[in-house]
Formats: sequence, structure tokens, C-alpha cells
Amino acid sequence: MADYQIAPSILSADFSCLGEEVEMVLDAGADIIHFDVMDNHYVPNLTVGPVVCKALRNFGIEAPIDVHLMVSPVDDLVVSFAEAGATYISFHPEASENIDATIQLIKKHDCKPGLAINPDTSLDCLDDRLGSIDLVVIMSVYPGFAGQSFIQSSLQKLEGVRESIIASGKPILLEIDGGIKANNIRDVAQHGADVFVSGSGIFGTENYRKTIEHMRAELSKV
Ligand code: DX5
Ligand code: ZN
Repeated sequence: MADYQIAPSILSADFSCLGEEVEMVLDAGADIIHFDVMDNHYVPNLTVGPVVCKALRNFGIEAPIDVHLMVSPVDDLVVSFAEAGATYISFHPEASENIDATIQLIKKHDCKPGLAINPDTSLDCLDDRLGSIDLVVIMSVYPGFAGQSFIQSSLQKLEGVRESIIASGKPILLEIDGGIKANNIRDVAQHGADVFVSGSGIFGTENYRKTIEHMRAELSKV
């Protein structure tokens, strides 16, 4: 069985007690914390910035933090999130003035770079770049909001990227983001994903532990 990782998105957590929520979801078995950053410009919604990432680190969160930048411009926030304790930093290629320079900037600050691909964006930007990134994020909803339905055509995209990752021979993570719940996680894994972002699918449920156990039980059938 592949090494699957579950990444709850804080977007659906209770922000009035974010530290406790993150602690609780990690105790419940989550592997990575997915941190959605929206700027009301690249996407029509506004969330949180580096001070909140830093606050989670100060609160004692040690798990990897997977910062998903839905912002334009990108580079200034890369530096601030690296200083705030990010582990992975993903960005949308169309939001960056120079994709390769942004990747290098993320690495220079000791974080792991990822490229996030929107439902209508082609995979071309990955050509010749798999050698320099650690993570590919396939968006299975249009970025901006939690709680949207999974877009089925993302499954073919996952398969295409999985083939390219295998051909590259590099241990690049393949993350799926949007509309993931216990009832579709297995199908998505069968199409090649190994990191599963889930916002409402986890934080919208009563018992995080039961939900994550249910997800892992589904993944164990792949
Ligand atoms: C969408 C965000 C996602 C989102 C996932 O713009 O990037 O990470 O919060 O939420 P769910 O799992 O509810 O679709
Ligand atoms: Zn996200």
C-alpha cells in the first residue's frame, strides 16, 4: 500500500480556537496541516496570513504545514511564510511572474515547493519542472471556497501526473485538493493521489478521529 497522507484544511476549522482545532485533528490521526491562503484578488475570498501560521508554531504545532498560496503576487508571501514556519509552499503558476524564480525562492528559504493546478489549467507547466518541485497539487474544485463538489475530470489529470512522477523517478507528492470525503477518497487514491486535503470532509464532521479512521479504512482497500 502506498504511503497515504491526510491533510485537513484549516479553512473549515473553527477559527475562534484554531490552535486547539489543529491539535485535535492531529491527535485524531492527521499527517499534515493544509493552510489555505486567499487574498481577495487571485481568488474571491480572504483568509489568513503568516501571523496565523506563526501562531500555530508558537502554540506548539510541530506537524508539517502545507501552505497553499492562492494569491498574486506570490513572492513576498513566500518569504513571510517561510519565516512563519511553513514546510511546503505551493502556488498557482498563473499567479507568479516567474515560475522558476518563485520555486527557487521557496527552496532558498528551506521550504519545499509545490505547483497547484486549477481545473481549467493544463499540466504543461509541469514539463521540465518535476525535477525542481516536491509537490503537485491537483485542484478538484475552483479555488476560493471550502465545501464544493469534487470535479470528476480531475481523476484523469491525477493519472497523467502520476505517470510523469513515476517516469521522473523522484519521490514527488501528488496532492488532491477539493471535495474529498470518506466516500470518494478510495477512488481518488486509485487514480494516483497520495496526499488528500479535506476541509469540510473532516472539520464538518462530529468526530475527527472516526472520520480519519474511516478514510484510512477506505485507503487500505486500494
Ligand atoms: C479551496 C481550498 C481547499 C478547500 C478544501 O480553495 O484550496 O483546500 O479548503 O475544502 P473542502 O475539502 O471542503 O473542499
Ligand atoms: Zn487548498
